[in-house]
Amino acid sequence: MCGIIGYTGKNNAREILIEGLHRLEYRGYDSAGVSVLDGGVITTVKSQGRIDALDEKIGGTLPGTSGIGHTRWATHGAPTDKNAHPHASADGKFAIVHNGIIENYESLRAELTRHGMEFRSETDSEVVVNLLAYYYDGDLKNTVMKATSRLEGSYALGIVCADFPGRLFAVRSMSPLIIGVGAGENYFASDVTAFISHTKNIIHMEDGQFAEVTPGGITLYDAIGRQVEPVYEKVTWDAEAAEKGGYEHFMLKEIMEQPRALEATINPRIHGGKITPEGLEALDMENIDRIVITACGSAYHAGVVGKYVIEELCRIPTTAELASELRYSSPILNERTLVIAISQSGETADTLAAMREAKKLGAPVLAIVNVVGSSVAVLADYVLYTWAGPEIAVATTKGYTTQVAMLDMFAVWAAGKLGTVTPEREAELTAAIASLPASVQRAIYLSSNVEEIAERNYRHASLFFIGRNIDYASCLEASLKLKEVSYIHSEAYAAGELKHGTIALISPEQLVIAVACYGALRDKTMSNIQQVKARGANVIAVAREGDRTMFAEADDVIFVPGTEPIFMAVPQIIPMQLLAYYVARENGCDIDKPKNLAKSVTVE
Ligand code: AGP
Repeated sequence: MCGIIGYTGKNNAREILIEGLHRLEYRGYDSAGVSVLDGGVITTVKSQGRIDALDEKIGGTLPGTSGIGHTRWATHGAPTDKNAHPHASADGKFAIVHNGIIENYESLRAELTRHGMEFRSETDSEVVVNLLAYYYDGDLKNTVMKATSRLEGSYALGIVCADFPGRLFAVRSMSPLIIGVGAGENYFASDVTAFISHTKNIIHMEDGQFAEVTPGGITLYDAIGRQVEPVYEKVTWDAEAAEKGGYEHFMLKEIMEQPRALEATINPRIHGGKITPEGLEALDMENIDRIVITACGSAYHAGVVGKYVIEELCRIPTTAELASELRYSSPILNERTLVIAISQSGETADTLAAMREAKKLGAPVLAIVNVVGSSVAVLADYVLYTWAGPEIAVATTKGYTTQVAMLDMFAVWAAGKLGTVTPEREAELTAAIASLPASVQRAIYLSSNVEEIAERNYRHASLFFIGRNIDYASCLEASLKLKEVSYIHSEAYAAGELKHGTIALISPEQLVIAVACYGALRDKTMSNIQQVKARGANVIAVAREGDRTMFAEADDVIFVPGTEPIFMAVPQIIPMQLLAYYVARENGCDIDKPKNLAKSVTVE
């Protein structure tokens, strides 16, 4: 996600802003910029690419002791100079930086355009600076309140006004923002990393609050402009720990970020109780008689989940194919086959090759991808972005769950178009998708026993994951997670298939993790648990919350919150991500950078 920094004090703002942006680089970005106020003039410099390119573009000196800076992780609009932040108002009065998603930006943009405001970018963020310019009456605090009262969605804002030297505003709503308290100088940023080398004294802002930040002090207000007493704290982290938000590893941080990543991916696509994925207007599902989902690794596992969900709801034959296989299998695709390519990085060579093969055969290609402007996004005919924010750990977690959620949304949208679900059922399913972020938050809470289970089981040399239907698809992802971060061999197996040979491997003490959440098949998987128990296996069951009879059969039970059966893949992967993490930690593995692996496999 984007990174924000603001500074006001006695030193050169450019130097402090650039240093802070460098410290925010770990968040991932594709462009950067600064706005500095000096002599009543705001100078804004921004550049696609790295912060060093920005620093070079600024050149020699940039006087001024207050300003704002931004690293952009593109969501709305490709990574270009004009889409980079800060955004300045045409009259030069204001500049802003933004982290989050303004969900009602289209209507605001239309309204402001009607009032003669000028837009120079494709971003949602630019509506903020134009709202400030539109409402400005000389009272900066009231202007900030009026402008932000019109915003829907998530936003952390940094604001500078040419008429008020040294006086910045910071606004927090659903996106992180923290204030750094210095001596005769003050800061705010997306996280403490940006200014921790200058001060460890902080003020946590709460959602809905905004702050007036000057060199002499900070005034904190609640959403209706009443002054509130700031709570001063001291950070004990060092800079490196701060990048991980205080977590030991990026993987754990990103597991815990999943509720917010899912909100950012789901919420902007639900309007009036209906799922309205952007950019699919020209996709006529009536012309589609087959769907092929293609990807690699975890993205492929999301595709396996998608196969089950799409077939269940849309009644269109759907398969999930490994991209590295599809590209060489002389695939039978045509203009009536919708190919859905899934990729977190958007740069996976096999996935790109499979997409090119599909396009050569005339098949329309829809991409589900996390990186705006990536090769997969550019190559596809239709793009649905997962707004998970940048994922640093090699082992994907929030990338995977947001891909699955995106497939769930696509399936409900398509089923509504095709009429294969009633409007009432469509509304039920939409509501269930909207509750997935909360469901994942609860799954994290219910996984409180996973660390202790990992401590008892991390020495196993090999283990099985078994399940049926959606549960089986989750087993595929769980198995890969464990292998790639803990180097322990595991195998995902369709539970009903065990008796056809593999059960020969079940001996006393063999560890089997049984995922038995999928409503209609839970009893079937239960009988598979009994089969392996009868052969001495040690069973950990992943079951729906409240399924207490599972305690009679399994040695350990990890509960996950229930939701629509076909959407269970999102909450039920949480405990298995955590299990992989804790087992790897027990084994002393390099969790964020496992051996032999790359975050994006851009070669065959
Ligand atoms: C997942 O944890 C792995 N890092 C890997 O399997 C990954 O999912 C695969 O390489 C696909 O990457 P992509 O989503 O960036 O295309």
